[in-house]
Amino acid sequence: MKVVILEDANEVARYGADIFERQLAHKADSVFGLATGSTPVALYRELIERHQRESLSFAGVTTFNLDEYLGLPPEHPQSYRYFMQQHLFDHIDIRPESTFVPSGDADHPIEACDEYEARIRNAGGIDVQLLGIGRNGHIGFNEPTSCLTSRTRIKTLTRETIDDNARFFGPDEEQPHLSITMGIGTIMESRLVVLLATGASKAQAVKAMVEGPVSAWCPASILQMHPSTVLIVDEAAAGGLSNPEFFKHIERENQALLTRLGMV
Ligand code: F6R
Repeated sequence: MKVVILEDANEVARYGADIFERQLAHKADSVFGLATGSTPVALYRELIERHQRESLSFAGVTTFNLDEYLGLPPEHPQSYRYFMQQHLFDHIDIRPESTFVPSGDADHPIEACDEYEARIRNAGGIDVQLLGIGRNGHIGFNEPTSCLTSRTRIKTLTRETIDDNARFFGPDEEQPHLSITMGIGTIMESRLVVLLATGASKAQAVKAMVEGPVSAWCPASILQMHPSTVLIVDEAAAGGLSNPEFFKHIERENQALLTRLGMV
C-alpha cells in the first residue's frame, strides 16, 4: 500500500484529483467507483473546476457508487444518488445513463444487488475505486465483521455509523438503518483503489488499516492485500501512524526517481 501524507484536506483533494485526471488521459472511457460522505466533496469540487477550467471531460466515463440507503428513493435529499447529482454529476459532462448508484427503492433489493454486480462486470470492472473510511474502519457500508470476500448486498449499519451520519438528517427525518453496499470482494477487484482520509477522527482507523492485522474488525485492513492501493491522508489523519516519516521519505524517493526518469 502506498501511503501519501499531505499537509491538509485541500492537498489531499488535489492529489486525488490528479490520479483521476491521469487515468482519464490514459483511458477516456474509464470506469470509476465513487463514494459519498464528507471526505470526497473537495475532490469532486476539484474535478468540477478542472472540467470547467481545462475541459477535463467525463463524457466517456461510467461510474458505480459504493452504496445507498435501503428505503430511500433517488429523489430523497439524503439519498446517495441525490448527493452525487448535487456534488458531481450535475456539474460535469458525464452521460446520466452511465452513472449507477445501488437502487435504494428497488422492488426486489436482493436481486438488485446481483444485477449491480453484473453491471460492474459487464462494464469491464472498475479501473479506479474511490473510498473514504469510517471511524470504525468500514469501507462502503461494509461494517466491522463484514465478510472480507463479500459481494454487493444488504448490510445493517452499526450504531456508530448511524450516529456519525445523523448530521445529514433533520431532527424529524427518519434515518435508514439498512443499506445496499458493494462488497469487500467487489472493491478488491478494482484495478486501483484510492482511499482518502482527513481529520483526527480518522487517525485510529487509518492506523488499524495500515498497521493492524488484516481483520474483519477493520474492513479497510484488507487493502493491505490489494496490489494497487493509494492511501492519501492529511497530517491529522496520519496522527496515529507509528512511523509517518518513513512514508514521507518513500514519497520523496518516488518523486526523485520519477523526475530522474523524466516521468514528471
Ligand atoms: C460513503 C461510504 C462510507 C464513507 C465513510 C466516511 O459512500 O461508502 O464508507 O466513505 O463513512 O464518511 P465521511 O467521509 O463522511 O467521513
